[in-house]
Amino acid sequence: MAVSSTVCIVGSINMDLSISTNTIPKQGETVIGGEFATYPGGKGANQAVAAARLGSSVNMIGAIGNDTFGATLLDHLESEGINYDGIETIPDVATGIANIILSENDNRIIVSSGANRLVTPDFVERHRDVINKSDIVLLQLEIPMETVVHTLKIANEYGIPVIVNPAPYQQLPEAVFSGSAFLTPNEIELLSMKTDPKFTSIQENVIVTQGERGVQFYENREKRYLPSHHVEAKDTTGAGDTFNGALASQLGRGAKLTKAIEYANAAAALSVTKIGAQGGMPTGTEVDLFIKERTVS
Ligand code: RIB
Repeated sequence: MAVSSTVCIVGSINMDLSISTNTIPKQGETVIGGEFATYPGGKGANQAVAAARLGSSVNMIGAIGNDTFGATLLDHLESEGINYDGIETIPDVATGIANIILSENDNRIIVSSGANRLVTPDFVERHRDVINKSDIVLLQLEIPMETVVHTLKIANEYGIPVIVNPAPYQQLPEAVFSGSAFLTPNEIELLSMKTDPKFTSIQENVIVTQGERGVQFYENREKRYLPSHHVEAKDTTGAGDTFNGALASQLGRGAKLTKAIEYANAAAALSVTKIGAQGGMPTGTEVDLFIKERTVS
């Protein structure tokens, strides 16, 4: 097995504006919440950071605006060791942001796409060499769907496997069903996916993340279930992204599916023990230690 993997992420980069509250306001109501903070986020960038912390070489393709959030996020990605040659700064557009409400041990998120909307097929075409240099490609749905389809086409052309994390869920074109090695919805996204007649033909390539209820997937045509690890959750934002980044990192280096899922499941559990989407994302050493501690001998 190769020591490391090169993961290409084509996806969103957001600044997360996060506020905790005991009470979610009703329509027309104002409530006094708890702490407010800004954190680096965006499903694409989160998955990139997750894979990089686990030792993968990560190439990110995405866009930011020419503003303070954009500059801060680019510095941050650089500090995480992510190759940002594929990130473009676009004038006269805001960097993407996400309003995050933390309540009842879970999160509610509204995204304003900003520059992420401008990651077009032509944009990705300019960086196709980055895709060609990768072992695996990881996509989410916070960039235009036509770009997701185009990236799949390029990766399929080069024979590079693609994981599509269908979040936030939108109706999936046939090319996404047929061109992805794996799709990784959460339970809510799965409900929508299942209404699509195309779902049945690819269900064995679907890995479902179910938060504290574990992970469901198929191995050798058999349905499998892996329970989650019990941890004290401080912020569940980015747990799915950690899972996806870790899964890509492991599959990219040639790990067997079940081993890769076990590893990603452990990484996701560790990620919720700190605040911020990327705050708790672990290093490879931390995941190895956690798995060792949790393995009954
Ligand atoms: O998956 C969590 C992420 O979703 C947040 O970081 C936010 O930016 C949104 O993209």
